[in-house]
Amino acid sequence: MVHLSNKLRAAATLLASLSAVNGQTNGSEFGELTQYGGSPPVYPTPNATGLDWATAFAQASAFVAELTLEEKALLVTGTPGPCVGNISPIPRLNFSGLCLQDGPLAIRQATYASVFPAGLSVAASWDRALAKQRGVDMALEFKGKGAHVALGPVAGPLGRSGYGGRNWEGFSPDPYLTGLLFGDTIEGMQSTGLQACAKHYIAYEQETQRNPSVSPDGVTIEAISSNLNDRTMHELYLWPFQNAVKSGVASVMCSYNRINGSYACQNSKTMNGLLKGELGFQGYVMSDWAGTHSGVSSAHSGLDMDMPGGISFLESGTIAHSYFGPNLTAGVENGTIPIDRVDDMCRRIMTPYFYLGQTSYPPIDGGEFALNYWSPSDVDPGVNFTFGPSNVDVRGAHGSLIRELGSAGMVLLKNVDNALPLKTPKIIGVFGNDAGDLTDGLYFGGDADLTNIGFQYGVLPVGGGSGTGRFSYVVSPLDAIKAKAAQQGNDALVQYVLNNTLIVDADGFAIVQPSPPDVCLVFLKTWATEGYDRPSLLVDWNGTAVVETVAASCPNTIVITNSGGLNILPFASNPNVTGIIAAHYPGQEVGNSIVDVLWGAVNPSGKLPYTIALAEEDYAFADITNSSALLETEDPNAWQSDFEERLLIDYRYFDYYNESVQYEFGFGLSYTTFSMGNATVARVGSGSVSALPSNESIVPGGNPALWETLYSVSVSVSNTGSVAGAAVPQLYLGLPQPANEDITPVKVLRGFEKLTLQPGESQPVTFDLNRRDISYWDIYVQDWVIGTSAIGVLAGFSSRDIQATTSFSPLASSGSGGYGGGYGDHSGPWHWSASEGRPSHWGPPKAI
Ligand code: BGC
Repeated sequence: MVHLSNKLRAAATLLASLSAVNGQTNGSEFGELTQYGGSPPVYPTPNATGLDWATAFAQASAFVAELTLEEKALLVTGTPGPCVGNISPIPRLNFSGLCLQDGPLAIRQATYASVFPAGLSVAASWDRALAKQRGVDMALEFKGKGAHVALGPVAGPLGRSGYGGRNWEGFSPDPYLTGLLFGDTIEGMQSTGLQACAKHYIAYEQETQRNPSVSPDGVTIEAISSNLNDRTMHELYLWPFQNAVKSGVASVMCSYNRINGSYACQNSKTMNGLLKGELGFQGYVMSDWAGTHSGVSSAHSGLDMDMPGGISFLESGTIAHSYFGPNLTAGVENGTIPIDRVDDMCRRIMTPYFYLGQTSYPPIDGGEFALNYWSPSDVDPGVNFTFGPSNVDVRGAHGSLIRELGSAGMVLLKNVDNALPLKTPKIIGVFGNDAGDLTDGLYFGGDADLTNIGFQYGVLPVGGGSGTGRFSYVVSPLDAIKAKAAQQGNDALVQYVLNNTLIVDADGFAIVQPSPPDVCLVFLKTWATEGYDRPSLLVDWNGTAVVETVAASCPNTIVITNSGGLNILPFASNPNVTGIIAAHYPGQEVGNSIVDVLWGAVNPSGKLPYTIALAEEDYAFADITNSSALLETEDPNAWQSDFEERLLIDYRYFDYYNESVQYEFGFGLSYTTFSMGNATVARVGSGSVSALPSNESIVPGGNPALWETLYSVSVSVSNTGSVAGAAVPQLYLGLPQPANEDITPVKVLRGFEKLTLQPGESQPVTFDLNRRDISYWDIYVQDWVIGTSAIGVLAGFSSRDIQATTSFSPLASSGSGGYGGGYGDHSGPWHWSASEGRPSHWGPPKAI
């Protein structure tokens, strides 16, 4: 009894001190330094109760009841092994351990595996069916290699800054677009029995100082703190993670950064409060690799699994030097960690394992040790992983989806006088260092020389870091062009210069003869990788000058970029640049995917999932935090990134301030044309709509009332051109500005559809709107609330190509009385009315 009360007292004292340890009190030394004070303490961790996963939860509970305390510590602590992350087998209970492998677009270091298009390309495709199928195909490869958990997909970074080094691993800075594609990917992956891991949670928006560093004087300088307010958190950064939880994601990875002063992996507000409380997440939170900075505090704040286990990244051979492991057992024994918390961690880890049927699972590929950073000698001799054959070929027929999705994620930005599709050009000039085959190897995961520059010669099909993939082959654009030219049957010449320096400085263009070619295809790239933010938004390797040089002599210059995000395109208005394709990161079939679009086998249907502004400076509103003073600081808390733009990132910013842009969010040309009919709004369901959701029990995804469809918007879309093509009708809403609240964006995406139409064909499209879609996050009532004024409805083919408008007032009396005519009559922050059309200061019309 005395022993027990001592334990309770110890626990109470600990809880009182945790918030200070975690930087989570408003008045704390850390808290005062952040723009929004500290991150509020939320304890204790909600216990999982198996919502949606009842049978598996019962199995997990029975399993955990059999474990010793030491075995529980093993289950929640990574250990050296064949995979990127490893959980030890417990043979006594027939548990063969867990193998966790990177990453979001491939089983990263594996041989005989496919490299899929990046999340960025999926976002640019706006195609939910392809997103899901990619999830299925990738997952089959992970499973075939014996990986239980894939460390992806990514929705953090969201893409607050275009310079973010990892934006391409995720989808789009628009949370609605990201949320749906994130959820679809997870559902596709988990339909095969693989566990997905939604990462990186949360507000992880820059690589610079993502981890703590040590100053020249030996002071530990803490990682960047992303400082944001509650509404911004809910409406931007948390939004897609809510979709992920709704989609039943098995695990979530907490990120490296701090949030309002508190490290993500020991932030009780974000893990206990938002993820497990508000969103009802029933799976487990694992740390990013060496993103754990404490044992007791992290456990209380909601961290369930410490990866890769050791305190430092590559600590091998033992988990003694771990914040979890033996220190967790010690914590339980000395009363600082309740055994209930450890049991909850274990149940959270084992429930998805049972739910997804992982009790019978393919063995780990025997070749993994050779490809991973651990060696077999690092492993505790008592730990026995089960291996299958080595170098298993898991690629299946996935190349065809990769080729299709690669093209689908390409955006045709400019096409003057039908320069594209190419007919049968006789002299084809190919220029630029992105056109040819790779010279520095087929894997961009570990070469330290790549840094923020990348490699010079060869196509860039995906970016670098843990989100990359080892190619079993790459189809370069030049190879694909040669093959296509040979099929034309007109003895076409393919002439090329792939050295950018030669083109710009030594008249390399003149080497290509006869001159000028019928078409000059200029291939450029932009490297992006984990660990570094991009130094520039221009294309790399002096690519802008390459375009200007080629275009000076070639009146039919077509530019194709392989980039890990947005590029400023100073040559967009050059009259000799007749075509521009943003080809993004399409994966191993890159050349074929590009040729399919260039020659018209595929009619381009990708749309920008971000805004291309006119100049780099236009993005200053949400910059990466960095400076030479910061790089030399001796102040542990110097790195603070205040998200002062709040809700106004990407198109939300440019629209609010009425700024001209080069190519707006949602924009992309086709080889055909489309029109859209009037928009009509219908109430789905009956009765009056309340401002607040009914107070229902939380399920995975949060309050189920948030997901109830309340309205739908219908339009019809017609193909008015002469070839078949896919349209992407988009629905934006102008939500009312609540009193005393942050600036509300002029419009936000709340619906999209991809549909293929034959020439002359029309089809109706209906966008369902659920409660969350038409609400704002009210910081005072701490809930999603429907505003009192009318909601503007703007349907069109991009964020600035609005074709049909109306409005509706959900809180007005039910029935048709709630619908308005135009949308110029309400009090929202509108900058134009329907009759004004597209203001001219939004930039020149696009060449079609
Ligand atoms: C990255 C994660 C990755 C992990 C394992 C970390 O540095 O941030 O995205 O899954 O390493 O490779």
